[in-house]
Amino acid sequence: MATAVFPGSFDPVTTGHMDLIERAAAIFDRLVIGVLANSSKTPLCTVEERVQLLKELTKDMPGTEVLSFDGLLVDFVDSTGADTIVRGIRSPADFEYELPLAQANYKLNCKADTLFLATKPEYSYISSSAVKELARYKGDIKGFVPGSVYQFLMQKCNYLDS
Ligand code: PNS
Repeated sequence: MATAVFPGSFDPVTTGHMDLIERAAAIFDRLVIGVLANSSKTPLCTVEERVQLLKELTKDMPGTEVLSFDGLLVDFVDSTGADTIVRGIRSPADFEYELPLAQANYKLNCKADTLFLATKPEYSYISSSAVKELARYKGDIKGFVPGSVYQFLMQKCNYLDS
């Protein structure tokens, strides 16, 4: 069974992430979405919230599962039995950042090959960091995140009170 891990902070999950998840799920028999718990970035959503949102969004996608992880990605990949890591590339800058990480991960665990998927152009400007910034200042995040995440963030950031 071809298994891949799609890792990330998913803080929060964006429409760009969801497009990549759908496309990766169509390539692999099993796709494990790995939510990094110990991110050094200041989180907007708790890891439990991020996992819950992703579980809800992928509940009708056969072959997908959502787990959180701590520590090294290659160890998490090993624990799932996967041999591929899927990462999205939005721009040349993403590739410059991702290539040495993929090479380091391969050096650490040569069973973990990284597959890059090109983000669709319509999602290339979307990032979790931009969403986080917009949410903190009550900017309009419609179109950046799936509807359920939009509703969740509206409540979490008290948009409805303002
Ligand atoms: O969504 P992000 O923040 O771009 O995801 C980054 C992620 C989770 C893929 C990356 O930070 C990661 O793999 N972290 C786990 C620690 C690790 O293994 N680092 C790589 C060392 S070479």
